[in-house]
Parts: sequence; C-alpha cells; structure tokens
Amino acid sequence: MASKKTSKIAAIVLAAGKGTRMKSLLPKVMHAVAGRPMVLHVLDTVEAIGAERAVVVVGPGMDDVAKAAQPYETAVQAQQRGTADAVKAAKQALSGFRGTVFILYGDTPLITPETLRHMLDARERAKPATAIVVLGFRPAVPGSYGRLVVDRAGALTRIVEAKDASPAELKIGLCNSGVMAVDGALLWDLLDKVDNKNAKGEYYLTDIVGLASKRKLRCGVIEAPEEQLLGVNDRVDLAKAEAALQDRLRRAAMESGVTMTDPATVFLAADTRLGKDVVIGPNVVFGPGVTIGDNVEIRAFCHIEGAAVGPQAIVGPFARLRPGTVLERGVHIGNFVECKAALIGEGAKANHLTYVGDAEVGAGTNIGAGTITANYDGFFKHKTVIGAGASIGSNTVLVAPVRVGDGALVGASSTITRDVAPDAIAVTRAEQRELPGAAKRYREKKRAEKAKTKGG
Ligand code: UD1
Ligand code: MG
Repeated sequence: MASKKTSKIAAIVLAAGKGTRMKSLLPKVMHAVAGRPMVLHVLDTVEAIGAERAVVVVGPGMDDVAKAAQPYETAVQAQQRGTADAVKAAKQALSGFRGTVFILYGDTPLITPETLRHMLDARERAKPATAIVVLGFRPAVPGSYGRLVVDRAGALTRIVEAKDASPAELKIGLCNSGVMAVDGALLWDLLDKVDNKNAKGEYYLTDIVGLASKRKLRCGVIEAPEEQLLGVNDRVDLAKAEAALQDRLRRAAMESGVTMTDPATVFLAADTRLGKDVVIGPNVVFGPGVTIGDNVEIRAFCHIEGAAVGPQAIVGPFARLRPGTVLERGVHIGNFVECKAALIGEGAKANHLTYVGDAEVGAGTNIGAGTITANYDGFFKHKTVIGAGASIGSNTVLVAPVRVGDGALVGASSTITRDVAPDAIAVTRAEQRELPGAAKRYREKKRAEKAKTKGG
C-alpha cells in the first residue's frame, strides 16, 4: 500500500456555553444523542481523524464534562467573552503544537470524520498551505449565522457576523458553521490581534479570517450539508439531532447486512454493534453497550442495554436484556423475560415470563415459564448458578445464593432455598390431595342454597 503522509492534527472543542435554553442542571454538551453525550460524539470524530491532541474548553465548575472527556484534556474559560477568547483558553494545553488545529463545538455532534478530512486536504493541498479552512453551509434560513465573504477567485476574505453585516452581506447564502481548520503555527498570533469592537462586544473567532487575509495568507471554504452542522440549543434541537443520528445509524446498520422490518421504530446507540444477517423487528430499543452476533433475530418490542448476544440467538418479542447479560450461541429468550448480569449458556432457553438476574445458566438448560431468581434480600444481591442440561419447572423461585447442579430437575412451582445436587430432582410444592366426587357435591349444595334464597 502506498504510504500517505499523515499530518499532525489537534482539536479544540468549545463547550463553555451554559446552555440556558436547555433548562437543565446538566451542562448542555452532556445531554445524550443515541445514548452518548454530545461532546463525546465530537471527541469520537476527533479520534477518527487521528488527532494526536484534543482540548475541551469548558466553563467554570463543569467538572462532569472534564471527567467525561478524559483522557482528553480540559481547559477552563473563566468568562464567556466570545469564541476567540474560548479558543485562547486552550493555548497552554496545545503549546508547541505546529500542525492543523481544528476548532469544533461540543453542541454540534453530527459532523463526520469525512468532512474534517476534506477540510484537512483543502488546507494542505495548496502550496503554501491554506492558513484557515472554514466549514461553510447553505442553510434554508441564514438568519443569525455569520456570512462568508468570498472573492472572485474563490478565496475567503472575511467572515461577517449577522449583527454587524450590511444589507448586501446579509443576502449571502453561504454561512459560517463555526468549524475551522487553522494552521497551528499562526493561530495564537492571529487570536492575539482579535479585538471586541463589534455589535456584541465579544472577541469573535471569525475575525481571524480577515486578519489572515490582510497578511496575504490564503483562507478557503469547504461546504458540508446542513444536517451535519445542526447545533443543539434547546430540547427541540436535541430531538432533531437524535432523529438525524438515528437515521444515519439505521442506514449504516442496513448497509452492513442488518434487516429491519420497520427501521423508523428501531432506536440504536452510537456504539451498537450488529453482526451480519441480524433481523430486527419493529419497536426495538438499544441502549449503550450492546453487541449482537451474526444471524440473531431480535423480535418486536425488545429493550436491550449493556448486553452481548451470541450468534443464532432469538430474543423476544417483548424481552428485556439489562446490563451484564451475555447470551451464548443459540440461546432463546422469549416474551416477558428479563435478564440482568446473567450468563446464559449455549442453547439454553427461557421462553416465557421469567426474571434471571445475577445468575449463570449452563448450556442447554431449560428455564420454565414464570421462573424467578430471587436475587435481592433487601440489602445484598446474591447469585444463582444453574448447571448445564438442567430443567427448571414453571413458576419456580430460586432463592439466591443457590446452586442447581448439571442435569438436575426442579419440579414446577418449587421454592428452592438449598443447593440441588447434579442429576437430582427437587420438588418443594405440597402433595396433591384428591377428594373423589367432592366438586359435584359442592355444586349441588350451593345450588340448593341459592334456590332457597330466591324462593323466600
Ligand atoms: C458563531 C459564529 C457564527 C456562526 C455560528 C454557527 C462567532 C463570532 N460567530 O456564532 O459566525 O455562524 O457560531 O453556529 O464565532 N462559546 C464558548 N465561549 C464563549 C463563546 C462561545 O465556549 O465565550 C461556545 C458556545 O458554547 C457555543 C459556540 O462557542 O457552543 C458558539 O458560540 P455562540 O455564542 O453560539 O456563537 P454564535 O453567535 O452562534
Ligand atoms: Mg450559536
């Protein structure tokens, strides 16, 4: 394979905004789309393009963002004095860095690695390299976005904020997404020249373009679809971002060999891993941390989170797999069955109305309808271990901690509080009594009583 020169990349992710319009105690960028905080989607993209450094710029007290962003560094912008000031907060963390610095936004989670690679190519293709590449887009309503002023040769000369724009400039349809790829050797110097003499009294990052052009440094524009640049300001935007991302994830899943009967009703997490020839019925929800093997069928109305499902398994309809569930090859989990922290061995079945929590079930074992592992004593969780080739009768309660040996058989409706030896039969239900003819005598007696009351 021809080796391609890999350029050095760093990223600054702005996330200091309080996100007042979210009306939330959580910092805006910690709100999740597809089960993952927005800022981590941006950091995933940064990682995908092979950035060697990234700094998330947060506001004071945003410790949970700093924690979520690890191992990436965080810098604190003490006061929100504008986007240029925010970028400057990352200066120390990137000291000595000379490659391309991307400026991204924690509340704009849908941007793709491909788009950033296009920007990188555009910056490095020209000789000498383009100083700043700005990501532009053409929104249906340009509104309050900054406008990109391009000269006849196609070079970007200036970005003008809507509040500072002339009527002619406001007519420009090409808008600033805010995303930039900047020569790291120039960035800090340009930022030092930015002032706050504008309509908002803020230090505008966008001003570095005009400053670079004045120094005869080349700036350029790459365009991306508006869908990638959706910025989340409130919960309505959050729902829009969720819908757009779900659409993308469903499409990618189908393109990689997954069948979905009704894709619009299947909700995936950003990290959902689906094997080949997986078939997913309608109304299935995947939370974070799910891996599904090849040839698995997930029937309608399942909720699956933090679970690994082996090949050839059948899950649902109406099953719930909670974190720590591992289903080995060919397992069947049926309707109204809930599993949590449960390892279910190859070919084992729990097909109806069951709770298996903090448990191990051996290969080929059958768990009858209505079986419950009573794992919680009100204070502690305990484990149930069932061997291979065992059979648990319907309506059994396994009071943990308890073990049922390989090949053992538990009679229906038992309450198992002590270990059952391999190949033993355990039954705890009361002996059956039979009173011959008693039902008939009972009916006759009651009918006679009723007739009397009517007559009187
Ligand atoms: C900015 C751009 C505008 C562009 C628009 C795209 C500037 C001056 N303008 O405008 O050209 O069309 O984004 O959405 O850059 N932030 C901080 N610290 C600050 C200020 C902002 O971290 O001091 C963060 C915010 O949290 C936000 C982002 O930077 O995520 C953009 O800031 P915002 O104030 O929304 O800029 P706009 O006015 O939308
Ligand atoms: Mg904004």
